[in-house]
Amino acid sequence: MDSFSTLIRTASHEQHVEAETSTFMSDLLGGRLGVDAYARYTEQLWFVYEALEAGAGRLASDPVAGPFVQPRLYRLPALERDLAHLRGPDWRAGLSALPATRVYADRVRECAEQWPAGYIAHHYTRYLGDLSGGQIIRDKAEKTWGFEKKGDGVRFYVFEEIGNPAAFKRDYRELLDGVRADDLEKQRIVTECKRAFALNTAVFRALGEEFPLSA
Ligand code: HEM
Repeated sequence: MDSFSTLIRTASHEQHVEAETSTFMSDLLGGRLGVDAYARYTEQLWFVYEALEAGAGRLASDPVAGPFVQPRLYRLPALERDLAHLRGPDWRAGLSALPATRVYADRVRECAEQWPAGYIAHHYTRYLGDLSGGQIIRDKAEKTWGFEKKGDGVRFYVFEEIGNPAAFKRDYRELLDGVRADDLEKQRIVTECKRAFALNTAVFRALGEEFPLSA
């Protein structure tokens, strides 16, 4: 039988392609959107990471989700610096979640509070993705909107405390493979991961509607 890390990766592959090729992401990576669209997207990420990280401390001692909780991954402080750069010092006042973002963040919070194994699915979907494809987005954002390399505006994508992302991902897969869950629970985590991808795609869809190219 495949390892759990392979299972979760394979099971979400199709949806990964869907997220990657969504209209909003394609337009963003194609350099066809203004910095306002990028800022709006970054705002949505703030809500997701607030949900992921606000409840993380409590999960640190959980036998299932605990090993995944690592403050060196936390993105909220970086997101807040990026938003201050993108929106100015009053960025909080203008911050608003799209309905799709609210649904996503609510689900993350629900898992954090009630289902630690499900939280792992959201943890994986976000942090491993940010460490991987996030680097492509960062590169593109720096070039398109002229942010300083790894500086304000793209700090979200810079994991200062992860020296070797490839090694980190290897260790992370080991953590997944050792997750303290039986086969049925693992299956449920995979299902939650697919849900996490679908929640992301829904946010992209909403952003695509807010920033249509042909309008
Ligand atoms: C244009 C957008 C994206 C690009 C270009 C991209 C690209 C990539 C690349 C190149 C990897 C390589 C992983 C490796 O072999 O080390 C990866 C992995 C991953 N991506 Fe994305 N990605 C994008 C969007 C997303 C989104 C929206 C999510 C979910 C929110 C996501 C979640 C993941 C996850 C969880 C992995 C780790 C897979 C694994 O090794 O288990 N990605 N991505």
